[in-house]
Amino acid sequence: MILEVLIVTLLIIVYFIIAAHAWPSRRTVRLLNKFPGPPELPLLGHTITLSKIKIEDLLLYFQSVCKEYNSSPYKLWFVNYPIIILNDPEDIEVLLSSVHNIRKGITYKIFESWLNEGLLISTGSKWHHRRKLLTPTFHFKILEDCMSVFNKNAQLLTEELLEMNDKIITIEPFISKCTLFIICEAAMGVSLENLPDKGEEYAKATKKMNNINMTRLFAPWLFHNWIFNLTPIGRECNRTLKTLHSFTEMIIKERRAKKSSEQSTDRVQGKQCLRTFLDCLLELNENDPGLLSIDDIREEVDTFMFEGHDTTSAAITAAIFMLGHNPEVQENIFKELDEVFGDSERESTIEDLNRLDYLDRVIKETLRLYPSVPALARETDSDIELRHRGYIIPSTTNVFVVPYILHRNSKYYSNPEKFDPDRFLPDQNQQRHPFSYIPFSGGPRNCIGQKFAKMEMKVILSALFRKMKVNSVTEVNEVKPVPSIILRPEFPFKIKLTARE
Ligand code: HEM
Repeated sequence: MILEVLIVTLLIIVYFIIAAHAWPSRRTVRLLNKFPGPPELPLLGHTITLSKIKIEDLLLYFQSVCKEYNSSPYKLWFVNYPIIILNDPEDIEVLLSSVHNIRKGITYKIFESWLNEGLLISTGSKWHHRRKLLTPTFHFKILEDCMSVFNKNAQLLTEELLEMNDKIITIEPFISKCTLFIICEAAMGVSLENLPDKGEEYAKATKKMNNINMTRLFAPWLFHNWIFNLTPIGRECNRTLKTLHSFTEMIIKERRAKKSSEQSTDRVQGKQCLRTFLDCLLELNENDPGLLSIDDIREEVDTFMFEGHDTTSAAITAAIFMLGHNPEVQENIFKELDEVFGDSERESTIEDLNRLDYLDRVIKETLRLYPSVPALARETDSDIELRHRGYIIPSTTNVFVVPYILHRNSKYYSNPEKFDPDRFLPDQNQQRHPFSYIPFSGGPRNCIGQKFAKMEMKVILSALFRKMKVNSVTEVNEVKPVPSIILRPEFPFKIKLTARE
């Protein structure tokens, strides 16, 4: 009886996976079968193997397969749905630098209920048009204006953490609050200070939504909205979406009201008034609603709010944790900070940030070991011939790149598990293939917010380490990084911050 139930369940699952994705052509199957891959079952391919792996073990699994095939690209089949995983920088360059293969593919579809067709997900002419429209909103002048917001919030964070002096704490909620405040104020022109929950519900909902989407990714029968909406997780997803969307709607409403009361974009009565990312979008809408509607603005606000706070929060948290395990690296940071700032209490300037070379390398090394976006994907629009191996990836194949694994490959990084910022010294950097280090992806769809992110991280980490030192209580090997869309530790780790003398 149990066996019969299992067989029927399996058949239903197989049916829904097949219905979600057309059966690939014989040519596609022939080309893909040239790629190596772990042993597979007839019809089911690797479905059973993959569905048995726990999310927290997923990266280890991909890492072991990458090692087994000596960094060659390999294939996996979810019944009729093939995936190619690239591990070699030369191959990754071919994929990511292509101006034709910019489609994100089926795995990003599940984000549409949240981010609609914002910049992260859109494709074709819509993406080209949006990217062109949004690039100037990250212009150097606008980023320069963000410095005051970075500094103010870095200062508030430091004061909050000084109150935790010598206590064992979980740092992530403090950092997440700070980066959320920053993205809201710097990019959207709205301060969360006066909100009763200070945006906490939104931050929690972001994490919940990522967990839901990750579960859905590995249960392809849940790709069908009508099945998904009938399940408890589908209903939880809809509740979470309400929280996320009402928050971003509130942000847009607030900024529009504030903008019309200020009646100006630059300076009001001598008081400095930042022209933010959201202001630029609202102006585009006022000038030509056909170019950018209010719905278009909402999908971009949803996209930038998510990408703009969760990624930086994960990276800053990881940097603090790694510094707490590497006292000699921390000493070098103190030395550099003392040289640049001395005993002064002043805020940091762009010139200061440019002088913080060592901190720059620490951030790079953190993003090597803990890239906030641990995996990315494309769906090919045309055949891709991989450079050295002569393998051809046929069109409409989903291709994955996993920076987390690439960055820990001993072929490209000696002693890869070691936290060593000096591997990013210019002479060492030059010897490496540019696509062996891709925390911000690469090519035309690279991260539009990377300059913003690097400046923000530098301001926060420098403010914090001017005043405090850190000891990490949780051991590195106790922390299992989980690819919950954004890379997170399986359990929050503990650290102790102490005021510097
Ligand atoms: C440490 C911080 C960050 C990291 C590691 C990071 C990483 C990435 C990566 C890997 C991608 C490519 C994703 C993919 O192809 O699926 C991406 C895209 C993107 N990021 Fe970031 N990001 C960071 C911070 C930010 C910030 C602060 C913003 C906004 C203020 C931002 C906005 C975006 C957007 C809108 C895209 C989509 C770009 C496009 O497709 O044209 N990111 N980011």
